[in-house]
Amino acid sequence: METEHDVLVVGAGCAGMRAAIEAHDAGADVALLSKIHPVRSHSGAAEGGINAALGNASEDDPEKHAFDTVKGSDYLGDQDAIQILCDEAPGDVYELEHWGAVFSRTEDGRIAQRPFGAAGEPRTAYAADITGHVLVHVLYEQVMKREIPAYEEWFAWKLVEDDGRCQGVIAWDIVNGGLKTIGAKTVILATGGAGRLYTGTTNAYSCTGDGMAMALRMGVPLKDMEMMQFHPTTLSPTGVLITEGCRGEGAYLLNSEGERFLKDYAPNAMELASRDVISRAEQTEIDEGRGVDGNVLLDLRHLGAEKILERLHGTRELSMVFAGVDPIHDPIPVRPGAHYHMGGVETDLWGKTTLEGLYAAGECACVSVHGANRLGGNALMETITFGKRAGAAAAEWALTHTTVAVPESVVSETERELEELLGRDDGERPHAIRDEMAETMHVNFGVFRREDQMREQGEIIERLRERYERVVVEDKGSLFNNDVTQALELGFLLELAACMIEAGLARKESRGAHARPHDFPDRDDGNYMRHTLVHWQDGTPVLDWEPVRTTKWQPQERTY
Ligand code: FUM
Repeated sequence: METEHDVLVVGAGCAGMRAAIEAHDAGADVALLSKIHPVRSHSGAAEGGINAALGNASEDDPEKHAFDTVKGSDYLGDQDAIQILCDEAPGDVYELEHWGAVFSRTEDGRIAQRPFGAAGEPRTAYAADITGHVLVHVLYEQVMKREIPAYEEWFAWKLVEDDGRCQGVIAWDIVNGGLKTIGAKTVILATGGAGRLYTGTTNAYSCTGDGMAMALRMGVPLKDMEMMQFHPTTLSPTGVLITEGCRGEGAYLLNSEGERFLKDYAPNAMELASRDVISRAEQTEIDEGRGVDGNVLLDLRHLGAEKILERLHGTRELSMVFAGVDPIHDPIPVRPGAHYHMGGVETDLWGKTTLEGLYAAGECACVSVHGANRLGGNALMETITFGKRAGAAAAEWALTHTTVAVPESVVSETERELEELLGRDDGERPHAIRDEMAETMHVNFGVFRREDQMREQGEIIERLRERYERVVVEDKGSLFNNDVTQALELGFLLELAACMIEAGLARKESRGAHARPHDFPDRDDGNYMRHTLVHWQDGTPVLDWEPVRTTKWQPQERTY
């Protein structure tokens, strides 16, 4: 064992850093471990804002925020968790402000808030359209101030279990090469999502579901894995995010006829309906021939140059660089792209998983506040509120337990596995398998789902997993061997895809992001107001169910 800590946080985006800060302040010896530098974490790509009922732009309160979130989740969110998120959000945002987060301001100097989709009030606090970037930097300053050590560019591969407890992590040191073992009384997973399962995604190359897959392999269940959110405005073909903040500021979505087509799908909320509703509307327009080269158009022109330059300058730059379009003068071609996994590692309200000593927070976790459809702006808030809670709980446990043990057999078995991978010369390179997985997931497990396509996708993933058994890493070296980490990431992604399909087939209804218009077009609260849970047993996913925790909001018809 190289070293040990009370608390080891794997992943150093907003959730990971917020967890580490809280664990440190509770008195624990804490370290971060991340495959990329913290300020390059995918949290930095969050653009439009963070939701808290500050009431700076209208009469708002946490109760309204909670109701919008419950309804937005299509009644699959756990209401006790949602209540915590919405109650704690204002205090958590003011804490970020006091740490120096440069939020955009109202005329009288308060934190500005903009409308976002499916929110009854303008509730999204923002820093222009680079909110995630601002928060990542503020959190990193707090990490540095506390001198919290970070194992930067270490790739976490395995969790260590001994005596029924998670007791550390085995990682590949990307910079220097070699496997490293870090013991820990508690481990917090904060590794983000798995958008790289898809071709068109807003997610960074690093979003390969590492924490979810590591937990799954330890017998920890993943919850609601069928619920992958498609964001309505992503650039083709890259999937680069064009923020919902554009629609919050008043942008229109147009079809090839120049019509604001949402009048036919969400006549009240129009462009500010929930993401699942808008993505389905766009896909329908495109499929029925009213798209523009496979896209619809996001029109900002009427907002005027001044507003675009002040509040959406990042969007303008992305559009010009990646689509050759200046939104001051021309509409931006956009389409739905994989954006956010509502599902993830099942946790309780303090981030605790079913494995003693293992916690999870942020997108890799499912607590579950997003249910079947997340509201824009609630993800950043979740990273902070539940990152903080996971840090507190993990520290408390660590400070009341003394020993850490990493059995030699776990380390030697991992070394053997790595040697086998690096020793293989005959077989297939990872990229072909990865491309096929991502392209077929897009076609067969996308905005709309059908039984036959999901079954076909299950067979495709099974064949890809067989091919993966013979995957070849060409770079046999130690230094910056991205070939080896990409091969390991592919193994993670393939297992997660299998879990998603298992859960998707079992949910025979349409709810939130899981839309089955051909065979099960309606929500079925009688049978499916419950979460899917997937365990990993003998190399295959095994399905179970768990009821939704309902406190005060009974399901209603969901219209916008
Ligand atoms: O559109 C956006 O700015 C994304 C925000 C979010 O996913 O919360």
